[in-house]
Amino acid sequence: MAKYKIAWLPGDGVGVDVMDAARKILNALDIQAEYIHGDIGWEFWCKEGNPLPERTKKLLTETDVALFGAITSKNKEETMKELAPELQNKGLVYTSPIVTMRQQFDLYSCVRPCKAFPRNPLNYKEGIDITVFRENTEGLYAGIEFCPIPEDVRTAIEKNNKKMARFNKFPADEVAMSTRIMTKKGCERIIRKAFEFARANKKPEVTLVEKPNVLRETGGLMLQTMKRVAAEFPEIKWGEGNIDAMCMWLLKNPDRYHVLVAENMFGDIISDLCAQLVGGLGFAYSGNIGDKYAVFEPTHGSAPKYAGQNKVNPLATILAAMMMIEWLGEKSKAARIYAAVSKVVEEGRARTYDMGGTTTTSGMADAVVDAMKRV
Ligand code: IPM
Ligand code: MG
Repeated sequence: MAKYKIAWLPGDGVGVDVMDAARKILNALDIQAEYIHGDIGWEFWCKEGNPLPERTKKLLTETDVALFGAITSKNKEETMKELAPELQNKGLVYTSPIVTMRQQFDLYSCVRPCKAFPRNPLNYKEGIDITVFRENTEGLYAGIEFCPIPEDVRTAIEKNNKKMARFNKFPADEVAMSTRIMTKKGCERIIRKAFEFARANKKPEVTLVEKPNVLRETGGLMLQTMKRVAAEFPEIKWGEGNIDAMCMWLLKNPDRYHVLVAENMFGDIISDLCAQLVGGLGFAYSGNIGDKYAVFEPTHGSAPKYAGQNKVNPLATILAAMMMIEWLGEKSKAARIYAAVSKVVEEGRARTYDMGGTTTTSGMADAVVDAMKRV
């Protein structure tokens, strides 16, 4: 009997290509797993009005972990246009299924390692090693949004905050509002994960990426929580930087940073920046990790123009699969994947188009499988 049940969620576009590549690596390692396909993505929004069908949610409750490829997200207008005619005007709203999975399964830690592989031609600088901890369930991406803003919401806010009067002068349907809502619990658990990681991996410092000088309440809550949790980890330094300044500092002195922690949107932004420092989205992988379940994924999108062309770099997905098996407890097999990827990058014989080469998606997977025999 298989030791693990893994939900296999390729999704849209190049998600399929890169997941096939990752499977080659898992198969070569002889992971005792049963891989169970789950429907997810744009097709299921258009046909069924739900990009994360109930049967897929059920699959997640019946498996140990999930590996996810990529999905197509579009803006509100396009989303409604492509919905099947019989599903129109039923009040259906598209939410990116990765966001839904993070929220519904309480996968509150988004962990994004950004470590430069030696001699990657795409490195911004050698030696960069930053891990981003992004809060994954709250903040500006919590989905508390209005347009038009209901009358009772408008008046309630004005009653408690006179600054709202400025916006209430406009007609309701000419104002849109997305709120940034955060809890003490939400702030605390992501910050704690960042410090625990720093302790376990002997990292000298954790840096909070926020903007408490402007976002006084939510940013302030994050900062207060940071100070409180940091006190429990006296051997680890803590620092803070505003999101805007951090974009600059990370370019100026990327090797000065080790572990970053941020709320949802700031973590989204800063993790793309950090990804670019170590090779771009072809190398960016992440774990969406809760207390009981986790979904691992490459951070890139579905790149529809390259779908099915066997062209994109599968390393991000291969590394996501590595992170997944490490989370399952297969530490030595995970280490072999890392060492093999490192070797392939360093040797430089196999390079996908983003790295300036002509190696295909499957060719890159074959190169990693081959390197696994040599590490
Ligand atoms: C990411 C992506 C997602 C996000 C999108 C696809 C909803 O940008 O995982 O970083 O914003 O969280
Ligand atoms: Mg992002």
